[in-house]
Amino acid sequence: MKIGIIGGTGGMGKGFALRWCANHDILIGSRDAQKAREAALEYISSAESEHLPAKGKITGVDNLSAAKDSDVLVLSIPYENIDSICSQLLPYVKESCIVICPIVPLTKTSAGFELISFREGKPSAFELVQKYMKIKTNLVSAFHTISEKKLIDTKLVLDSDIFVCGDGEKPMETVNGLIREIKNLRPIQLGPGSLSYLAESATPILINAMIRNKMKNPGIKII
Ligand SMILES: NC(=O)c1ccc[n+]([C@@H]2O[C@H](COP(=O)([O-])OP(=O)(O)OC[C@H]3O[C@@H](n4cnc5c(N)ncnc54)[C@H](OP(=O)(O)O)[C@@H]3O)[C@@H](O)[C@H]2O)c1
Repeated sequence: MKIGIIGGTGGMGKGFALRWCANHDILIGSRDAQKAREAALEYISSAESEHLPAKGKITGVDNLSAAKDSDVLVLSIPYENIDSICSQLLPYVKESCIVICPIVPLTKTSAGFELISFREGKPSAFELVQKYMKIKTNLVSAFHTISEKKLIDTKLVLDSDIFVCGDGEKPMETVNGLIREIKNLRPIQLGPGSLSYLAESATPILINAMIRNKMKNPGIKII
């Protein structure tokens, strides 16, 4: 598969690229194609120095090219930029393209980290993105509770669960498969996309727990 990562120059983008280049071609997307090319070169060099079994190629392109060419597209961008990025890109994705939304509507307040959706009564990231999807059932939300630091550290075995929400059975199966390709990650179905806010709210819980209890990049595992 060809996996495009919009905002692939960020920390999560690097983690996804390093974890999935074993089996897939990766398109690192950026608003700035040169920045994307430089990030791709850096990720290739990390993959080589860590001796990752990379069967796929990592290439840097502008966000629009990544959107047009991908079989799976990850929206690895801040919540605040969903409207501008999705309105520009999602009309151009292939009909069959599966879109993954790991976006967390996170804000820092005097109390700690909170969910913008609860705090300001705004839509979940999933609901906001879904407005721009040509085929609404191709949107799947996942990866809210895995930290970029853990994803990037490919020597680390990630013994964690990943909540998955969506409205299309086949797209969710594809995303479950991509989660399982990352050793010891387990997909956990939460329900339809309308419940994505529950998965998104797990991130501020983890960050507050991490800060107040001096934990190191905690994740979630249901036992
Ligand atoms: N970091 C984590 O540990 C973590 C964990 C779980 C979920 N998430 C979620 O995953 C997503 C990506 O996380 P991240 O930490 O990688 O994010 P990030 O570093 O803040 O941003 C990722 C990329 O988004 C692009 N971007 C920044 N500002 C933008 C703007 N105004 N308009 C369009 N694009 C913009 C940038 O790419 P270009 O400048 O190259 O275009 C940037 O490299 C976020 O929604 C976050 O909530 C993060």
